[in-house]
Amino acid sequence: MLFDTHVHLNARQYAEDEEEVIKRAKTEGVSTMVCVGFDQETINGAIRIAEQYDFIYAAVGWHPVDAIDMTAEDLVWLEKLAEHPKVVALGEMGLDYHWDKSPKDVQKDVFRKQIQLAKKVKLPIIIHNRDATQDIVEILKEEGAHEVGGIMHCFSGSVETAKECIDMNFYISFGGPVTFKNAKKPKEVAIEVPLEKLLIETDCPYLTPHPYRGKRNEPAFVKLVAQQIAELKGITYEELAKKTSENAKRLFRIS
Ligand code: NI
Repeated sequence: MLFDTHVHLNARQYAEDEEEVIKRAKTEGVSTMVCVGFDQETINGAIRIAEQYDFIYAAVGWHPVDAIDMTAEDLVWLEKLAEHPKVVALGEMGLDYHWDKSPKDVQKDVFRKQIQLAKKVKLPIIIHNRDATQDIVEILKEEGAHEVGGIMHCFSGSVETAKECIDMNFYISFGGPVTFKNAKKPKEVAIEVPLEKLLIETDCPYLTPHPYRGKRNEPAFVKLVAQQIAELKGITYEELAKKTSENAKRLFRIS
């Protein structure tokens, strides 16, 4: 049984065939998923899907690329949503220095506010990091994020950074890129991360694993991520699936 810790079934790429995509995931052994919202529209979508399917949970947060759009009312709204029985985490949140829609200081401010909220409502956080590792680690430390812990989503950093994040009470989650033929670094890091700190995800509809790279991603493909990591770690697919599912349930407090 697989736990996909990061799906965007709330994306418009699934508007036509959401039900079939979810059915296909079940058929491939995906027993649980967390649907992640990152702005008003996708947060509403994540809540709707989590209310509709008992095996899908929701995470709610504000994406760093759109940090400039988040209002004080939005933060109050997030706090309210945190009480929803199917909301298991805040995020995705973090820093993204690849796109320049939101200035860095705005991104940092919105990131800090969400960490502070997570500590208040006692929920783990899901971190999005693009070209901003140093600042992310610094802010997590300064804000005392270890108190709630969470996930370094679609991790692409070094072994050293992975260890630093694990020491701060974070899990390291791998997605499609670990299956890419030329992905040396993610493969090395996946080998080094202890099994009890490892999670798997698709981040669908993005980052489709090999051999479907370039096509739309979907939760059923998390199986390919699990197979790749099991092979890298020299353990069975069943053990990898079991351990990563247990890790996710422990973190999200799902029984
Ligand atoms: Ni995502």
